[in-house]
Amino acid sequence: MDTRRDFIKKSALIGAALCLPASLTRESFAYYPDLKTRSPKKVLILWYSQTGQTYRYARLIGCILKDKNLEVDIREFQETDKKILTDYDFIIVGTPVFYYDTPSNVIDWLEKIPSIKGTPVAAFVSFGGPEGNQHNASCHILKVLIKKGGVPVGRDAFRNIPSYPTPKWDSDNQKSGEHLPNADTFDQVCRFTANSIEKISRGETISVSYEFALREGLRILPLVWLNKKAINKHTVDASKCIGCRTCIRKCPTKAINPFKQTVDRDKCLACFGCLNNCPADAVVMEYRGERLYGFREYLRRNNITIMEPEEFKTCS
Ligand SMILES: Cc1cc2nc3c(=O)[nH]c(=O)nc-3n(C[C@H](O)[C@H](O)[C@H](O)COP(=O)(O)O)c2cc1C
Ligand code: SF4
Ligand code: SF4
Repeated sequence: MDTRRDFIKKSALIGAALCLPASLTRESFAYYPDLKTRSPKKVLILWYSQTGQTYRYARLIGCILKDKNLEVDIREFQETDKKILTDYDFIIVGTPVFYYDTPSNVIDWLEKIPSIKGTPVAAFVSFGGPEGNQHNASCHILKVLIKKGGVPVGRDAFRNIPSYPTPKWDSDNQKSGEHLPNADTFDQVCRFTANSIEKISRGETISVSYEFALREGLRILPLVWLNKKAINKHTVDASKCIGCRTCIRKCPTKAINPFKQTVDRDKCLACFGCLNNCPADAVVMEYRGERLYGFREYLRRNNITIMEPEEFKTCS
């Protein structure tokens, strides 16, 4: 039987063949309005995170900027009133890469923000695999922000343990035991932050252009739909559920109801937020007949502790 990875690899080849011309002709963005300031005072860091990895980077960026005496707000994007975006003079957006792209719920949200003309913007993604199309996913965030008048000053991608559940949880960095993030990853975050601030102070921008990647073709395949077809069971085990509502909070579309043991399969984005975060292993998902288990459970079974940045010891 094909593993999910085989299945996605086959889809990648078909997708790449279909989308090669589109990938090569993707636009780059060159003309921006003038920066509204070269010395930002108030920074907004907007994050989306299902298993805490993007949030860790958002917090680290916040610590670094606070250390530079900037006023920093770190907010989960879904709980943020879009109107407040105009109050800031630097906006940083961070998300995980899901299905070789920025999660659709984040893009939908960003598409509805008001004009932020002249505001410097930076984007980062966290990702799990070496060929995760992370460059283009971060460019996708900037593309939407630029459309709203944002001026790009930073972009980066930080790798860490993947949160994509497979029956085997196969991944090269996990097999070797060299779990990311590590101190180098956190250094990369520091450089991204410092470089973005420096760009603003010099009145410079970065170029934002999609790069050719085989995986890029996958972005237009209906991957979520394909995955949902392959997930033949998605429910809640009432005998294990402790009613903590974590799955409800983590579900971007309010598709899961643990009290009725139901999942609205039409609304579900196959993001695995419910499975990955359930503390009682009560979310039951089967992928082509194989039982999946979530990220928390994966860390527990393998006794993995994710490294935290040194800065967290001193940063409030
Ligand atoms: C539904 C889903 C799809 C994913 N797709 C990709 C992908 O296409 N490329 C990749 O590099 N990582 C992928 N990942 C791994 C995540 O991007 C990575 O683990 C990320 O750091 C998770 O961030 P978070 O903890 O903030 O949610 C995926 C994870 C999930 C749950
Ligand atoms: S029900 Fe679907 S959309 Fe909601 S958290 Fe679970 S996998 Fe994600
Ligand atoms: S996260 Fe798990 S234990 Fe908590 S309500 Fe949902 S299914 Fe039940």
